[in-house]
Amino acid sequence: MTRRTILLTGATGYIASHTWLALSAAGHAVVGVDDFSNSSPEVLKRIEALAGHEPVFERADVCDKAALRQIFAEHAPDAVVHFAARKAVGESVAQPLGYYSNNLGGLFSVVEAMQASGCRHIVFSSSATVYGVPERLPIAEDAALSATNPYGQTKLMGETVLRDLVASDARWKVAILRYFNPVGAHESGLIGEDPRGTPNNLMPYVAQVAAGRRAQLQVFGNDYDTADGTGVRDYIHVSDLADGHVAALQYLFDAGRSLTVNLGTGRGYSVLELVRAYALASGRDIPCRVVPRRPGDVAACYADPARAAQLLGWRAVHGLDRMCADSWRWQRLNPHGFEGVPPAASPMPPLTLSETSR
Ligand SMILES: NC(=O)c1ccc[n+]([C@@H]2O[C@H](COP(=O)([O-])OP(=O)(O)OC[C@H]3O[C@@H](n4cnc5c(N)ncnc54)[C@H](O)[C@@H]3O)[C@@H](O)[C@H]2O)c1
Repeated sequence: MTRRTILLTGATGYIASHTWLALSAAGHAVVGVDDFSNSSPEVLKRIEALAGHEPVFERADVCDKAALRQIFAEHAPDAVVHFAARKAVGESVAQPLGYYSNNLGGLFSVVEAMQASGCRHIVFSSSATVYGVPERLPIAEDAALSATNPYGQTKLMGETVLRDLVASDARWKVAILRYFNPVGAHESGLIGEDPRGTPNNLMPYVAQVAAGRRAQLQVFGNDYDTADGTGVRDYIHVSDLADGHVAALQYLFDAGRSLTVNLGTGRGYSVLELVRAYALASGRDIPCRVVPRRPGDVAACYADPARAAQLLGWRAVHGLDRMCADSWRWQRLNPHGFEGVPPAASPMPPLTLSETSR
C-alpha cells in the first residue's frame, strides 16, 4: 500500500483515536488536529504507547481558517478524515447555533484549506441519523433522508456540501461514511470512549452502572414492536469502524470515485440483549428500570452493510460479546477515563488470555 499523509480532524476523539492507530498500522503517516473541546491530551500519550512513536499533532480549532491554512502548508496532507464535530443530539436542540457554526463552519474551513492546498480526498463522518425514521429495514444507502434535530441537520447538510463539491469539480473524491452505533474500545484497554458528564449513549451508561458509578439503567420503553419490546440498534465495534476508514481511503485513491456507505454490522440487538451480554462480560449485575419511551426514538434501526462489503471489501468482524468485553476492560482499567491514573501505574490485575482473545 502506498504510504500517504492523512490529516485527522477531531483526532483525539473516540472514533478518530482508534482510526489513528488503524491508519498507522496500515503504514500511513498521520497528522492529528483537535482543540480538546471534547477530548483529553492524555489520548496522545496512549497513542504514542500503542503506535510506538511520537504522534504528530497540532492543537487547533478547525473553524480557525488561518490556523488550518498553516497546518496544510506545513504538513501537505494527501487526504483528510474529518471527524471534528459536536455530537450530542439533545444539546443540539438546546444550542442549535453552536452546532451549525461548529459542525458546518468546521467543514467549510477544512474544504477551503484543502482546495487552497490542492488536497481533494476527504472522508466525512456522517451518521445513520440522516435516515430519520426508517421506512424499511435493513436500511440501505438509497433510503429516504431526513433529520429530526439540528445535529442530524448538520450531517445532512455536510453530505450535501460535499456532493455539490464533487458535482462542481471531478477532482474531489469524497467518502461519506454513515456510522451506526459505535461501541467498545481498543483491545489494549488504553483508549476508549470517555464521555463527559452523563453518557448520552447506551453502552457507556451500562459500563458505568456495571462499575457502580451509577445506580441503574433506565430502559426507555419495553412496548416497542420488537422481540422483547425494547429498542433495537446496530452496534458496531469501534475498531471495525476504524478499519472501515482505512478501506474507504484506499478506495478513494484506487478506484478514483466518490462513495456513500453505511458502516454497520447489519445485525440489531435490543437494549435487554445488550444488558445481558454486558452483565456476562463484566460479571456484574446491571439493575434496570423501565420508564416511558423517549420522544423521537424509533423501534429498530440497523444497516444493510452490503454496499460497503461490495465496494470496500470491508465488513464488521467483532460480535456483541467482544464489544462488551473490550468496553468493560477499558472501563475497569480507566474508571475515571483519561483523567485518572494511567493503567500502567494502576493496581488493576493484568488482562487474562480470554480477555485478550478475539
Ligand atoms: N459516536 C457516535 O455515536 C457517532 C455516530 C455517528 C457519527 N458520529 C460522528 O463521528 C465523529 C466523531 O465522533 P466521536 O464519537 O469520536 O466524538 P468525539 O466527541 O469523541 O470526537 C470529536 C472530536 O472533535 C473535537 N472537536 C470538536 N469540534 C472541534 C473543532 N471546532 N476544532 C477541533 N476539534 C474539534 C473534539 O475535541 C473531539 O476530540 C463526529 O463527527 C460525530 O458526529 C459519531
